Amino acid sequence: MRLGILTGGGDCPGLNAVIRAVVLHGAKRWGDEVLGFRDGWRGVVEDEAIPVAPERASRILSRGGTILGTSRIQPYMTDDGPERVVEVLARRGVAALIVVGGEGTLSVANRLHRDLGVALVGVPKTIDNDVGGTQLTFGFETAVQTATDAIDRLHTTAESHNRVMVVEVMGRHAGHVALWAGVAGGAAATLVPERPFDIAAIAAELHSLHRTGARSSVVVVAEGARPVAGTLAVPEPDVDEYGHIRLGGIGAIVASEIERRTGLEARITVLGHTQRGGTPTAFDRVLCTSFGVAAVDAAHAGAFGQMVAVTAGRIALVPLGEATAALKPIPDGLWEVAEACRS
Ligand code: F6P
Repeated sequence: MRLGILTGGGDCPGLNAVIRAVVLHGAKRWGDEVLGFRDGWRGVVEDEAIPVAPERASRILSRGGTILGTSRIQPYMTDDGPERVVEVLARRGVAALIVVGGEGTLSVANRLHRDLGVALVGVPKTIDNDVGGTQLTFGFETAVQTATDAIDRLHTTAESHNRVMVVEVMGRHAGHVALWAGVAGGAAATLVPERPFDIAAIAAELHSLHRTGARSSVVVVAEGARPVAGTLAVPEPDVDEYGHIRLGGIGAIVASEIERRTGLEARITVLGHTQRGGTPTAFDRVLCTSFGVAAVDAAHAGAFGQMVAVTAGRIALVPLGEATAALKPIPDGLWEVAEACRS
């Protein structure tokens, strides 16, 4: 079978590990050849692809980024884009397309399958871990580790100076990275998009923490966190050319407000794209490899319109329609754990 593969949306650690697994398992188990489309959906619409042979794929397991490139371009941006996808895949003899992406890329995949019958299988990617239908997306664990390492470092310098360190992490609609890193790093407060924050309460707690002996505290802020309405002025974010809201900056507002209200020195660190670059952790490599193998087997089983997922701790298939119906918010249980152990 000729398989196509694309990586779309924001990149994350582990994309190359998925590509590798698709190419190696496809070739060894099924005799497949793989065509890699460049820059996500753009490569399909503009018919730009490269063959990815096992020799090319075998040593990319630990490499960050994606050898295929990625973009936020998608077929529904132009009238004839969706038909172009059908046409290009047929002309190239692609029997099944493996679509590796987050909520945006997978929603497009769902539409193409539902409305035009495109034979495809999804693989959930994003450090934000907000794709529905799966307990985990790949890239998330690596991002949490990066953020946790940063928090550990921030604690020691904060302690030397008796400071509050505010660390801004990614997470536009959901605060999974912030919450996990906050728990793993022993944060004094974690601010997430799902729960508007009360800056007065946070400042009061930090003030009392430092008055009663603490010499360091870390506040983790997801880039999409917002204050309770009417409590703190926050500028409207910019929107990029794809209609994607460009976040960033809430951490600096929180840090200066904490300083103003508590009299404690506060500093801001924005982790930004350091969370998306670099090598995947061992856990993510295993997850990516398992996802890649499962996606190839799903294609051979004709399980189109499905996404590989982790459900009840196992690799499974879920319908793309279900997975893209709603974003996955942080779990209440872990939020309560974080609240119980703030320090
Ligand atoms: O969607 C994943 C994500 O990493 C978000 O957390 C973040 O807001 C966004 O991508 C950043 O995208 P870009 O690389 O286009 O600035």
